[in-house]
Amino acid sequence: MSDVAEDLARIYKDLLRPTAAARIRVAVLVLFLSILCNSGCAFFNDEGESDIIIAVNLSDRIDPIFVFAVIADPHIPDSRMFPPQDDYRYLKAMSVAEDLLEVHVQDINSHSQDVDFTLVLGDISDKGKAWELNRAAAILNELDAPYYPVVGNHDNFQDDNKQAWKDAFGRDSTSYIFIWEGFKFIVIDPTLDPYDPPDHTVRFDEDLRDWVRSELEDDPEMPTFLVGHYPLLNRCWSAEFRVFERVGQTCLAAEDDHITEDPPVSERGYPDPEHLNYYRVYQGGRELREVLEDYGNVIASLNGHVHANRAEEHNGITYIDVAATLVGSPCIRYFYVYSNRVEVDFEYISDGSLLSHVRSLCPNCLRCSYPDRVCGFIGGRLEDRRFTVWVGQR
Ligand SMILES: [Fe+2]
Repeated sequence: MSDVAEDLARIYKDLLRPTAAARIRVAVLVLFLSILCNSGCAFFNDEGESDIIIAVNLSDRIDPIFVFAVIADPHIPDSRMFPPQDDYRYLKAMSVAEDLLEVHVQDINSHSQDVDFTLVLGDISDKGKAWELNRAAAILNELDAPYYPVVGNHDNFQDDNKQAWKDAFGRDSTSYIFIWEGFKFIVIDPTLDPYDPPDHTVRFDEDLRDWVRSELEDDPEMPTFLVGHYPLLNRCWSAEFRVFERVGQTCLAAEDDHITEDPPVSERGYPDPEHLNYYRVYQGGRELREVLEDYGNVIASLNGHVHANRAEEHNGITYIDVAATLVGSPCIRYFYVYSNRVEVDFEYISDGSLLSHVRSLCPNCLRCSYPDRVCGFIGGRLEDRRFTVWVGQR
């Protein structure tokens, strides 16, 4: 690669994820290129047409329109009576859950680029107790910028119709919308009111789907994110990360089986991977996806719950699973929003001892070298954590 091409490649990388140093490099090179372009830019074409495009883009704004962070599933426990114990079954570092959330907050506040807001994708508490939710809110209130909370199944374990959640975060409803710089965020809550343990059902029911549809109809031109706790694109997965076969793969073919039947059990005593899903019932998930697909402006759907990172495009919409703050190798997702794209990136939490502690709960995560198996499923492949969502191209 020529020196010019190498410079251009570095500029392009800087444009996607600008840091302070990158901004300085880009500014100097923009000045240099603008002088050269007065006598024509044809020499940039020795590496092909894309060089011209890079040169043209340099005249556009370099900073994103806005930046938001996404975290999920902090599972803040009630630590009043007994010190929380780590959960080796689900690999949750419960003993340091509060510390982990605090570090996530500190890291977001000190991120190299200002973060405009944070999404917290549910299971904010471990049992839905008022004390847990208030403790979580106290930590999250230390964020410099606003945050938008989501209800998870663990926030709905007290049969209080999620009143403690509403009180902790000062919200009248668990479903709501907000608009940021011309982008719409639709926050949904498919958990049951009242909580119904024997049912274990998650219902993207008709009322919820109609509400989402009306929100999409209200702003048909506005790029939109759907935000919730549950995946709309089911995976073959186990919250215990014990079943390796097909873990992480999409389970579209088995969706209908989950509605009425328990997953069959294999000879080894595990649920049949062909039918595997921890929450076997996601009623209306497919229909809600079809609502989203009816409109050309939904660019992505974000969720927690699976405690693992994954990104997958399906019929033009990117479905993004976000890992938990206390499982695997905790990292923070950052979304850099531009007019034509969203660059998604990640950073591991800055506290090395906390990171090591969480990783120690999952020896398989450290040893495993098979990307589709348990370690790869929790952390995701690199392309599950660093990718681009294009705006307005559906
Ligand atoms: Fe969770």
